[in-house]
Amino acid sequence: MTAPWIYSDKVKELFLHPKNYLHGSEQDFAFDAKGTAGNPVCGDEMIIYIKVSHRTKSGDPERAVLGGSRRGTPIEDSSEMGEETDRTQNTPTTSQILPKKTNDIITDIKWKTYGCASAIASTSALSELAKGKTISEAQKITPKQIENYLGGLPKHKFHCSVLGMEALTDAIKNYQDKL
Ligand code: FES
Repeated sequence: MTAPWIYSDKVKELFLHPKNYLHGSEQDFAFDAKGTAGNPVCGDEMIIYIKVSHRTKSGDPERAVLGGSRRGTPIEDSSEMGEETDRTQNTPTTSQILPKKTNDIITDIKWKTYGCASAIASTSALSELAKGKTISEAQKITPKQIENYLGGLPKHKFHCSVLGMEALTDAIKNYQDKL
């Protein structure tokens, strides 16, 4: 007797035809950063590659603060900065001028995995949700959004669905570490 199919039609579709899957080797994709994650439950691995643009969604180049002296200039959004502001003098410190670049846009994303159908469909969904988003927006994608995109996932497959998000988080960290 054949076991019943426990996945939604969307999971089946993305498992058979995953979006943004990296065919070939990573040398075939000019990525800016790479992240990995492993699933200790089953030992599967996920790798995500991202291309990132320094342009904001309005098309303007992001405000450049690297290396420049901005003495006396207020910091408009300290959440963009890597460290705390020297508020006593309103002057950026050396560590502060390293922005986290959370407004940079993920223009393209590819991934590879040895994971199961749930991991493949979930990461396919994640890649579609994250592409075109700012780093800050991509960081806010939730497992629930992925589950909704897929039309549901079996509960015991939840751990597979977060594998891609963990790898994306690692890729973003890798990108920000390079700045
Ligand atoms: Fe390993 Fe799903 S069982 S990723």
